[in-house]
Formats: sequence, structure tokens, C-alpha cells
Amino acid sequence: CSQVFRKQDFAGKKVLISAGPTQESIDPVRFISNHSSGKMGIAIAEAMYLLGADVTLVAGPMHVTVQYAGIRVIPVRTAAEMETVCLSEFPSADIGIMAAAVADYRPVQIADEKIKKQAESWSISLAKTSDILAQMGEMKHPDQVLVGFALETENEEVNAQAKLIRKKLDYIVLNSLRDPGAGFGTDTNQVTIMRADGAQMKLTLASKNDIALKLCQSLKVWQS
Ligand code: CTP
Ligand code: CA
Repeated sequence: CSQVFRKQDFAGKKVLISAGPTQESIDPVRFISNHSSGKMGIAIAEAMYLLGADVTLVAGPMHVTVQYAGIRVIPVRTAAEMETVCLSEFPSADIGIMAAAVADYRPVQIADEKIKKQAESWSISLAKTSDILAQMGEMKHPDQVLVGFALETENEEVNAQAKLIRKKLDYIVLNSLRDPGAGFGTDTNQVTIMRADGAQMKLTLASKNDIALKLCQSLKVWQS
């Protein structure tokens, strides 16, 4: 697309968005990852761009691509790479929206050569990755807005609210895998936007693009 009409809602605002999964290597040919397609994060990046923001997208490995050349994309692979980029970009951002499905654990050791099959069973030692969003919550200035995502399969609202408080977020977007039409790889999603003061807004099932737009618009309303 050469020319698109961009609104001014977020003009002059720098928005940092993370999207997609991360990959944690086991050896040169294998990794641990998850089912995140990156679609929700891409949709938010595009919505923010169309609303006038200056968008940087930190993107884990994914098949979907952004359709506007004006969005700055920084590709990363591992949680550690995503951490380095997000922590260096966040200080100059006005808004951070972390939609990435960051691996919680990585193999303690990465084998230099392909691991050959031997025994009937095999186990891998894993170490926790550092929580990127929680670190951003710690470094956040009062005028910055930080939005996290929560993927829950039980006690959804209680768990999401606890995450919001623990990571010092302004908002958390609860993704419930229980809702039909929501989740990995689908083009639709059902989310609840929750605020630190307990207010919440449940968005009806819609395309990820519509959800992204509604999310950005509610941030705009809630911030003003
Ligand atoms: N997140 C992150 N760094 C990690 C893990 C998660 O920045 N190492 C961010 C995600 O991008 C998301 C939020 O934290 O915005 C919540 O991710 P989620 O997996 O739902 O929560 P966790 O804190 O990892 O807890 P758990 O997986 O145990 O529910
Ligand atoms: Ca997690």
C-alpha cells in the first residue's frame, strides 16, 4: 500500500508492541515454542498505525506480516532477544502493548550438534526466562501506559487481575481459550479488557482486526 488514510487519535505517540511466539533452542535443529500465530499483535500494530501512532513491532517468528511499510518491525527469535529489544525500546515509548506469547522456560543448555536419539526416554532441563513485561512494569514512568495480555484456561478473571497487579500494568487483555472462536490461529477473538481499578469491558466475538481497533479506541477513551 503506498498511501493510506491515517487518523490522528494517536498522532505523535510512540507505541511499542510485541507479537508472536518465541523459540527456545534445544540444539541446532530443534526448539521449544507455542501455538501463537502473531495475528492479534499484528492487528494491534496495524490498528495503532491507522490511528496515527508511530509503531514499533517486536515480532517473534511468524508467518503473518504487517501490511504497512510505515510500521517499524524488529524481528526476534528467543525470549532473551525479545527482552533486549523491548527493554531498550520501552523508555522512549508512550504506550507498550505486549501481546507476545513469550516462552516461560528455555533449555538450560543448547547442544552444539544435533542430539541423536538414544535412550527410550529423555528429559531436558529448563530454566525460567525473565519476565519482560514485569520488568517493563518496574521501569514504567507515570505517564507511560502499559498493557499486558493474559492467556488463562481457569479462574480467568481472578488470574488476569492478579497478573495486572503483579506486573504493575495499567490494563490487561484477557484471552480465554474457552470461548468459541477465540485463541490460536483463528481470525476471530473474544477478549475482556481489565483495568487496574477493577473496571472491565468484555468485547463481543469479532475479527482480530475489529478487536484490535476496539482495544486501541478504549485505551484512547480511558486515557483522556
Ligand atoms: N510475558 C513476558 N515475559 C515472559 C512471560 C510473559 O513479557 N517471560 C508477558 C506476555 O507478553 C503477556 C503477559 O506477560 O503480556 C502474560 O503472559 P502469560 O503467559 O499469560 O502469563 P505469565 O506471567 O507467563 O504466567 P503463566 O504463563 O504462568 O500464566
Ligand atoms: Ca506464560
